[in-house]
Order: sequence, then structure tokens, then C-alpha cells
Amino acid sequence: MNTQTTDTLKSSDVRIFERIETECRAYCRDLPVVFEKGSGSYAISTDGTRYLDFFSGAGALNYGHNHPKMIEAAMNYIAEGNILHGLDMFTTAKRELLEEIERTLLTPKNWDYKIQFTGPTGTDANEAALKLARLVTSRREIVAFRGSYHGMSIGSLSVSGSRKLRQAGEPLLNEVTFVPYEFGPNGKFDSIEYLNQHFGDSSGGNELPAAVIVEGVQIQAGVYAASSEWLRQLQKWTKANGVLLIVDEVQTGCGRTGEFFSFENSGIVPDIITVAKSIGGLGLPMAMVFLRRGIDAWKPGEHTGTFRGNQLAFVAGRVALQFWRDEAFLQLVNDNAETFASAMESMSSSTQILETRYKGLIGGIDFGVGETAKAQEFQRRAQEEHIIVERCGREGEVVKLMPPINTPNDVLIQGLEKLSRLIG
Ligand SMILES: Cc1ncc(COP(=O)(O)O)c(C=O)c1O
Repeated sequence: MNTQTTDTLKSSDVRIFERIETECRAYCRDLPVVFEKGSGSYAISTDGTRYLDFFSGAGALNYGHNHPKMIEAAMNYIAEGNILHGLDMFTTAKRELLEEIERTLLTPKNWDYKIQFTGPTGTDANEAALKLARLVTSRREIVAFRGSYHGMSIGSLSVSGSRKLRQAGEPLLNEVTFVPYEFGPNGKFDSIEYLNQHFGDSSGGNELPAAVIVEGVQIQAGVYAASSEWLRQLQKWTKANGVLLIVDEVQTGCGRTGEFFSFENSGIVPDIITVAKSIGGLGLPMAMVFLRRGIDAWKPGEHTGTFRGNQLAFVAGRVALQFWRDEAFLQLVNDNAETFASAMESMSSSTQILETRYKGLIGGIDFGVGETAKAQEFQRRAQEEHIIVERCGREGEVVKLMPPINTPNDVLIQGLEKLSRLIG
């Protein structure tokens, strides 16, 4: 590499991206900064500016950037000459990860799931879940919720609500019924009664679905959290009708809502759970499906993929799971959730916004329908304060706050205070 190229890479020059990277690029449009380093709750640009990262890689960095324990484990793994790519072969790294999943999640929570490694994205985990539900039930229809987001590949996009995103993928799968979620911009809705009405009449012309796919918190929709009671009623309905319940924990999982999975407090046990993003610990690609033991109807290789054996993600992901057995970590997440809740409550009194919504360490500042420009302005001003925030909601009118869950509490407080001052 010649010096000139190195200098270009090191500088804040963004011309190469604009010249030859597709118009499809997205996040970098709101934040046209060249990042070089990451450390804990900070992403650091080429000029050394430390940005407090309240976006956390869209949920892939719940444990922050470059956690030293995960970096050490990954570096040792490489230095020892261990295998890096393994398809779905048996490897020591995968064995140790599975043992950790059993020790940290399955045994203490009394969950009888089998684990499927899919291609390393959330969307592929959802594709696998939808295919499996159809295989198991021999039904075709899927129930999804308005406002949902499950990914960009055709199956996942077919169960996602956004008209804009769907248009780019047409034609999509037809056999999807969209039901209003418990809460949304139009207020509260009795989704369970709707399901009863829609599917309850045996002469109603509607076939029962294979599965319901749901998020415990609809984050992309604008941070709407389902109540425990609603989730319980939903599971009751699926059980009564032989329908599989798929909970998409791709963004809500790995502690984002305070518990490991967002549904846990409700006491439901989904038939299928999909996981990606932070399950790879360091932001390394990995995705999984947790499927109830009794529904493992797959035949060998029916949902395969080259990159299901990212050994470095197995190594980092195992270290991340160990945190969930560490009292100091659990206490910090708990303290942070309390800090976050009180900041979100106090911001909600501002007359500049409609309301705030939150669960654990995911929060939304809703500027109201039609007020996307205000949310954009808030995001821009946050950047001036060197805080990275994203937007969600139907038209980007909700500012999404998603700090690393293990951010030092004083750093979290300072960041939230700065953002609070921006609202006034
Ligand atoms: C709830 C949910 N499901 C699925 C996905 C898709 O995951 P990926 O981008 O890894 O395909 C996302 C991504 O944001 C998500 O938030």
C-alpha cells in the first residue's frame, strides 16, 4: 500500500465512499464521519474525536466496542493457530460455546431448546424460523404485526411492515396477515381479539397460520414494548390453535431490555427464538435459532450456509455469555436500566416532544408523527455533542437511544444529561 493511499484511509476524507459505494448506503449519511477505533462505549474517528456510542451498532455492540476480555480471547485463539472457518463441522470453539449456552441459559432457565446455527445475519435466522414453522405445521400462512421489522431477505421482508422497504423487494410472499401490535402510533389495540375474529370462524375463509412472528419490543417501529399480559395471551392463542410462536430477539436480545431476552419477565416460552447481532459478542457475525426440542423437523442440510461456523464469533460470544454469570456485570446492567428509566421519564415532561418510551436500555424519544425534521435536528445536535444516536419510527420521527448495556454508570448519566439538555 503506498503512502498516499494510507493517508487517504487515515484522513476524514469521505470521497472514495461517495464515488464508488452504492447509493444504498444508509447510516453513514446521517453521520459522515470516518471511524478508526472503538473502545468501550466510544467510537473514535480518524481525528481522534471520541463519540459516545448510543447506537451500539444497531444492537450488535451491547457489550460496547472491543471489550478487553473478548479481544484477549479472540487474539489468543488466532495466535494459537486455531481453526477460523468451520462450516458446521464439530470444533472445540463451537463445543465450548454450546456448553456455555447450556450453562448460562438453558439449564438455569429450564429451557429445552435445540440450537441451530444459521447464516450469520438476523434475517437468515428469521428465514430459517419461518421455513421450520411451515415444515412442522404443514401450513403456509404467517401472522406478523404492523410496524414489525424482521430483515431484508424476501421471507423476512414479507413479514416486515414498512411500505418503503417492501417496495424494494416486491413481489413478496403473499401468505402473511398483518395484525396491529398491542401499541402503536394509533394507540392501543386488542390484537388477540382481532386474531380470534380473523381466524376463529371455521367458515371465515381464513386458513390458520403456521406461526406468529413477534418482537417483544418493536424497536424499528418506534420502541413499542409489549406488555407481559399481551405476550401471555398471544402464547395462549397460538397454543390453542396449533400455531408456533416465533419471538424475534435479534435486536432486543442479549440484555438490551435488561433481561437476556425481552420476553422473559412475561414467563412465556416461545416455540422458536431468533438471535443475532450481540450474540457474537464483539460485533462479529453470528446468528442462531433456538427451537423447542419437539419441533426439530429439519432433515440434514435443509437450511445450510457457508458462514455458519465463524469460530471467532463463537469464542467472543462465549466470553459475552459468561458475563451473565458475573454479579458485578448484572448489577451494572440493573443500575444502568434504573438510570435510563429515570432519564427517559424526566425527558418525557418536555413540551418539545410527544413522549418517551423505553424498556431496559432501549429508549425512544418520540417527536410525533410529521415531526421527522425535529428528530433529525436532535440527532444532528447530538452529534455536535459527540453522541451517536439513531432514528426509528414510521418516518424516522423517533430518536432511538441504545447505549452499550455495560456503559460505566457515570458515563451513561453524563450522556443522558447532555441529550436531555438538547430537548430543553
Ligand atoms: C428485530 C430485527 N429482526 C431482524 C433483523 C435483521 O437482522 P440483520 O440485519 O442481521 O439481518 C433486525 C435488524 O435490525 C432486527 O432489528
